[in-house]
Amino acid sequence: MIYIDRPDSKQPLFHVQTQNVSYIMTVLPNGKLVNLHYGKKVSHTPYLGDLFQNYDMQVGSSTLYEQGSNLTLDTLLLESSCFGKGDYRVPSIYLSWEDGARTSDFVYESFLLHEGKVSPKGLPSVRDENLQCDTLEIILKERVKSVTLHLFYTPIDDAGTICRFSRLINHSEEVIQIHNMQSINMDFSHSDFEQISLDGMWIRERQMHRQAVRKGIYTIDSKKGVSGANHNPMIALVSPETDATRGDAYGFALMYSGNFCGKVEVSPYEMTRVQLGISDFEFKWNLSPGEAFDTPEAVCVFASNGLNGLSQNFHQLINAHVVSPHWQYKERPILINNWEATYFDFDQKKLVALAKEAKHMGMELFVLDDGWFKGRNDDTTSLGDWTEDAKKLPNGLKGLSKKIKAMGLDFGIWVEPEMVSENSELYKEHPDWAIKLNDRKPSYGRNQLILDFTNPDVIENIYEQLNYVFKQGNVDYVKWDMNRNFTDVYSNYLPKEDQMSLNHRYTLGLYALLERLCNAFPNILFESCSSGGNRYDLGMLYYMPQTWTSDNTDAVERIDIQFGTSLVFPPSTMGAHVSGRPSHQVLRTTPIETRFNVAAFGLLGYELDLTKLSSFDKKVIAKQVSFYKKHRKILQFGTFYRHTAEITEKPTVWSVVDETKNQFVIGYYQKLHRPCPPLETIKVMGIDEDAVYEVQSRTQYHNIAGFGELINPFLPINLKDGGILQSIINNRYLYALEKQSFLQQGDTLANVGLKLYAQFAGTGISDKTRNVGDFGSRLYVGSRRIDL
Ligand code: GLA
Repeated sequence: MIYIDRPDSKQPLFHVQTQNVSYIMTVLPNGKLVNLHYGKKVSHTPYLGDLFQNYDMQVGSSTLYEQGSNLTLDTLLLESSCFGKGDYRVPSIYLSWEDGARTSDFVYESFLLHEGKVSPKGLPSVRDENLQCDTLEIILKERVKSVTLHLFYTPIDDAGTICRFSRLINHSEEVIQIHNMQSINMDFSHSDFEQISLDGMWIRERQMHRQAVRKGIYTIDSKKGVSGANHNPMIALVSPETDATRGDAYGFALMYSGNFCGKVEVSPYEMTRVQLGISDFEFKWNLSPGEAFDTPEAVCVFASNGLNGLSQNFHQLINAHVVSPHWQYKERPILINNWEATYFDFDQKKLVALAKEAKHMGMELFVLDDGWFKGRNDDTTSLGDWTEDAKKLPNGLKGLSKKIKAMGLDFGIWVEPEMVSENSELYKEHPDWAIKLNDRKPSYGRNQLILDFTNPDVIENIYEQLNYVFKQGNVDYVKWDMNRNFTDVYSNYLPKEDQMSLNHRYTLGLYALLERLCNAFPNILFESCSSGGNRYDLGMLYYMPQTWTSDNTDAVERIDIQFGTSLVFPPSTMGAHVSGRPSHQVLRTTPIETRFNVAAFGLLGYELDLTKLSSFDKKVIAKQVSFYKKHRKILQFGTFYRHTAEITEKPTVWSVVDETKNQFVIGYYQKLHRPCPPLETIKVMGIDEDAVYEVQSRTQYHNIAGFGELINPFLPINLKDGGILQSIINNRYLYALEKQSFLQQGDTLANVGLKLYAQFAGTGISDKTRNVGDFGSRLYVGSRRIDL
């Protein structure tokens, strides 16, 4: 809903509203567009103008915006902030004119109300299919130059979201240089906030960090050329008391996959400014007469019910309005990926054997990872030459895909289309297609260079090659990888004056290619990957409905990674695999059941050599697969709840509940077992308090070898730890762990909780003892009883 008061005056008031959120702005007599309130929904009344608050005197040594008025821009809550007229906080738009001057001053001109969604051109954005919305366009005009700045606001009713982006139009005769143009400038009148960011690195992505906002400027950014794993392009501000279920929580996320920056500034007046947009470092865009420049879209998400409310809004936005309608709420297949099973060392026979095992265990999609194209036996070669390696695949992709499909599995393939190896035909033919400098040796990441996607010829070539691959393999799924960050940033295609726009033009080129491929192959399920989660952002999700969360498949590390990721991204977007032991990333050995219990809260896959597993593991995996299939819908698309605001020493608990509240699944994960641990209770979230639920623990199995010599007091015979007999029994016999099952009223589950059996306390075990142990976990499934 968008209300506009005094629409014909020079000082209208705008109230953009969703089911739970209000965003109110007005225009001051000096023409400045200011924010009056952003947060919990308020009624639209004639009194909203009185929310304007400012110093009614000249403050200290401030510079005044206009002679004769006491207003300084430095203390206004501005919707867009310029440089040169007395706002000394970071400007959200910074331009220079042909004469070298840098002052700009945008004031209100008019507004337009559009039916439906208006989106930035050539960039991914919240989709308008299934949306009932209008867009408010507020037009600001530069006081002196013939240039307009257009601010767009679209409320997304069911997701507590306001989408924003800006457009600059050059109506003048001069070329304008844009040095910085942020997607949002969000000013608050106070600094009573804590900020949350998702920071990390390779194999440790999106760790949730929370800290008080401080005077000065806090920046997160990426100069890597991709959004990167160091900081996700997202900033949250929460009131200090915010926990999982209570408190005001704002989340700002950028729908963009290139260099970005996000800033939180607390001014001397204790006002907080948040900005998010294309990085102002290494950016310059020349805007010629008659041209327009659009920023990427930023989504501003608000919830007054804590971090769960915030995430649920983000998840709803992504599931219902970002992911392509073709894939929305479509259950995703359980896959087997050969990467950690074989790395580069495979042939068709090995792949087929792996696929057979996978099919036998109930999996649905076989994914052929890196190493299938000609000469690719390690990572020094062949990127850019997307044709089959005849030694590994004597019947080509076509032959392999046929065999896989004949087994009843879908066929998927790995590609890394943005890259080129120096040792490739493509590079030999077109050395100038790589991003590199002509007068110095390039720096490498994984021995490879990045293709210049600012050049349409490059994109055309890659499109044609991929077209061949996807058709030859008759592929159902594509893992689109991107394994190095930018260095030697220079394009042989762009003119000198456009070099500083390389990264943005590259990102636009990538989006154009993805748009074309998604249209040409609507039935291919794309999963985006960048050495794991180095480009996990809303921009990529627009084209590819899922992302490889992290190269770290260790279950314990994944708890932290998936916990942080879930702040913004729903389980339906998170690729999550069960891998071998020990973990290839941290050398930790975790129970196979925990590896599953963590991966189950994402898009389940297996990435280990199934042909070499013990028969215990094979049987257990088959049971996991069938459990996942039964609960897949809720695990992928249920409403997600974290039971604590952050990860602590105590077991981590999260859960999903289906739309009808008929079912829930709770995940419980313990890192280390403590001696004589306390009794534990889990309060169930999001359920129907008037219903009765039957709750059951998922039947899990323990490898008796894990008991070592401790098994002997319970057996009539003596088993040698590590001996043949132990291994025979272990493989034949699945030792089921404690089974907890009961009926309970919803209000009791919600307010008193699920009383878990006590954990092993050092002396003996019974069928009502939970032997969780180090890195142990449980799943509990609740179902509404309708027959009562
Ligand atoms: C990246 C990906 C991995 C795998 C390899 C293949 O590291 O993140 O999952 O596909 O590339 O080279």
